[in-house]
Amino acid sequence: MAEKKKSGAKPWGGRFTQATDDLLESFSASVHFDYRLYPYDIAGSIAHAKMLGKVSLLSQGEAKLIIKGLQEIETEIKADRFEWDPKLEDVHMNIERALVKKIGKVGEKLHTARSRNDQVALDTRLYLKDALKIIHGGIKELRLSLVRQGLAGQDLIMPGYTHLQRAQPVLLAHHLMAYNEMLKRDMSRLEDLSVRVDVMPLGSAALAGTGLPIDMKFVAKELGFSRVVANSLDGVSDRDYIIEFLAGAAMLMMHLSRFSEDIILWATSEFGFVDLPDELCTGSSIMPQKKNPDIPELVRGKTGRVYGNLMGLLTVMKGLPLSYNRDLQEDKEPLFDTVETLSQILPLMSRLVSRLAFKSENMRAAADDPYITATDLADQLVKQGIPFRQAHAQVGQLVRHCLENNMALTDLDESELIRLCPGVKPGIKKELTLEASVKARVSTGGTAPQQVKAALEKALEELDS
Ligand code: ARG
Repeated sequence: MAEKKKSGAKPWGGRFTQATDDLLESFSASVHFDYRLYPYDIAGSIAHAKMLGKVSLLSQGEAKLIIKGLQEIETEIKADRFEWDPKLEDVHMNIERALVKKIGKVGEKLHTARSRNDQVALDTRLYLKDALKIIHGGIKELRLSLVRQGLAGQDLIMPGYTHLQRAQPVLLAHHLMAYNEMLKRDMSRLEDLSVRVDVMPLGSAALAGTGLPIDMKFVAKELGFSRVVANSLDGVSDRDYIIEFLAGAAMLMMHLSRFSEDIILWATSEFGFVDLPDELCTGSSIMPQKKNPDIPELVRGKTGRVYGNLMGLLTVMKGLPLSYNRDLQEDKEPLFDTVETLSQILPLMSRLVSRLAFKSENMRAAADDPYITATDLADQLVKQGIPFRQAHAQVGQLVRHCLENNMALTDLDESELIRLCPGVKPGIKKELTLEASVKARVSTGGTAPQQVKAALEKALEELDS
């Protein structure tokens, strides 16, 4: 009988004769991580209680009492005066039990016409809706930092690379604005997904819906959802919205990781394109001279865990029969971890970007590679009607000539250039400077200053709205 009493202490304990094994108890408890859902769990319960009052499954007095009790519990949790009990498994049962303890038997009416299966789906949707706003705002701030750096150094020239070999000169602002484009797509992916998160599942109950006269639309409206789920089985077992978020986050991290890699390279003595601010770097415990780019390195490193979170949840889902299975509890740690990782990274990256001190002379010196304007020379030949392949071969031979004679393309005087490259017009050397090369690239999305300026202004306008 004593044992029976123990298992009866669980909200689901009625049909059990034995107390839960303690190994199982600690294995299955989730409250140590899903406590994060408490504001959403309480908001969901308040909306649910209001609805139960509206459809007379609760009297108005009962609904009021329950709502007041839930509000007090929220205050206690916020003030760190709430004791989470892992024996009560999760955030939902902890809060419900505290409610009953606080207001007595009427608290036991709250779980009418719902199950933890639809409750947890509701909570994670509400959590994600909030998280999306924070992350969206974080990306926006980072984009603004990029644009501001671009505007500040509008005419700084650096080498553009392919294969990490100097390729053609570009504006630093153009390079930074490439990341702005990636981040813009990341924002739009989050916006797309927010439509599919915006669906209210409470009322799906355990799996099949309920015969009690509930009003799901009312709950949706109370909680700010646009729609309710169309199928209760899907309502309790869909985790697409989390997976989509993790996929969007993985893509975002990939972009941040690439940018980090650029910053790490730029900060090396070999590149020397940028000085990182002291307050955003750390030192070495053995080498007194070191200043290390820990932020971009950790961002690059944490990309692995976010990819892992996506792969983890995809794998959890792949073999699950309908509908709810306890496996689904494994959705929360990857979700929380990803949200928390991004919530830390985005403001840090934004701060780092806004404090980057670019070393314009070094960037320019690197851009001033002896052959970096070879394509410009070939383009000049094309303008004289020479087929591009032929122009390419001609300039290629010229580059070889220069290499053999240990000279830069621009070391040749003009008559020599015209002799070796028949077809080029006088005045050609003016076309082969870094400025001229950059200025010439006026195609849409090209690195010409006027194009870059327009892109910066457009971005600023978008981000201001
Ligand atoms: N903690 C559980 C989860 O995260 C809540 C739902 C539990 N449902 C159940 N039937 N055991 O999935």
